Amino acid sequence: MSNTEINTFHGSDVEALAAHFNLDSTKIKSFASNVNPLGLSDRLKQELTANIEVITRYPERDYKTLRTAISKYVNAPIDNIIVGNGSTELISGIIKAVSPKDAILFAPSYSEYEREVGLNGGNIRYLPLKKELNWLIDENDLKNFIIPDTDLIIMCNPNNPTGNAFSTDELKVILNIAKEHGITVMIDETYIEFGADKERYEAIPLTAEYDNLVVLRGVSKFYAAPGLRLGYAITSSDRLKSSILNSKDPWSINSVAEKAGIIMFSDTEYQANVRDCTAKEMEYFKNTLEKTGKFIFYPSQANFYLIELTDTDKTSTDVFVHLVKQNLMIRDLSSFPYLGDSYIRIAMLNHEDNERLANALISYV
Ligand SMILES: Cc1ncc(COP(=O)(O)O)c(C=O)c1O
Repeated sequence: MSNTEINTFHGSDVEALAAHFNLDSTKIKSFASNVNPLGLSDRLKQELTANIEVITRYPERDYKTLRTAISKYVNAPIDNIIVGNGSTELISGIIKAVSPKDAILFAPSYSEYEREVGLNGGNIRYLPLKKELNWLIDENDLKNFIIPDTDLIIMCNPNNPTGNAFSTDELKVILNIAKEHGITVMIDETYIEFGADKERYEAIPLTAEYDNLVVLRGVSKFYAAPGLRLGYAITSSDRLKSSILNSKDPWSINSVAEKAGIIMFSDTEYQANVRDCTAKEMEYFKNTLEKTGKFIFYPSQANFYLIELTDTDKTSTDVFVHLVKQNLMIRDLSSFPYLGDSYIRIAMLNHEDNERLANALISYV
């Protein structure tokens, strides 16, 4: 396998990675999948186990109880909430619903959007996030980038893999530009709940004011439940709602995920705990590595950092390969547009694992 192939290992590809490097997959620590390391809360485990009989029933056809729980959690009307089989089903449903001719993606970003736009016959163009703006964009760049065919703007906020986020006020500027041109804006907030001051960055409150906005979230990362496949979207656009719902299969969320969601969204103790642990580890990791002068950290409102290697002859792929042989899996970002071969992405795990990774990085780079 060449370097260009090695650098495409996704965070969830632990099995493939283990096979390639002849490792025991159960020993690999994945700093690349961005999943919160605390695992499921005790409360969820107990309540879900006690309710395992839900498997013998169909979920609600309209998922009203689950949507009510989400409605309380995100403070948005239940009629504006659509649930899906992971945010992935909703990314697909939204892109199908908009069926964009020309979609703008703030890049580098998560790759699934591009695949979906392509599957629907649309064209996607990258608007580069600017390093000098800590990986945000200038509103004039957006204005100049819009063409008559543009009908969708896609952004991930906080962005994967750059970590930084536009504030709610900055999002308003983008939404106003989009509205002027009749453009729908899709914002993926998969990572927003990790942020200590997430209220400054949230787009959900804006769904009341902007009907050209749809916001997406899921439970895979923050609630450490990627196998559950549960996501949700919030929009006040009747056109989008009916179009997304019309293309969905009935019961696409199983009754275990339906029950788990109802429990998770009210588990305020767990939510606070995840945020606290993330904030502590983010601070520890940055402080430890930054003082060596070999790692540049960019602002992050997520549970991972975009880190630039500096003052070293090691590339991101060298670092990836070196670490993986010690069962430490990070994300080499050299396959992402605009990033070259000196960027890595690292999500926080528990303190002991983070310490091990920090030491391994310091001794190699
Ligand atoms: C930005 C982003 N959105 C969506 C997903 C997929 O989420 P889900 O498991 O909810 O389908 C991921 C997974 O890596 C992601 O990074």
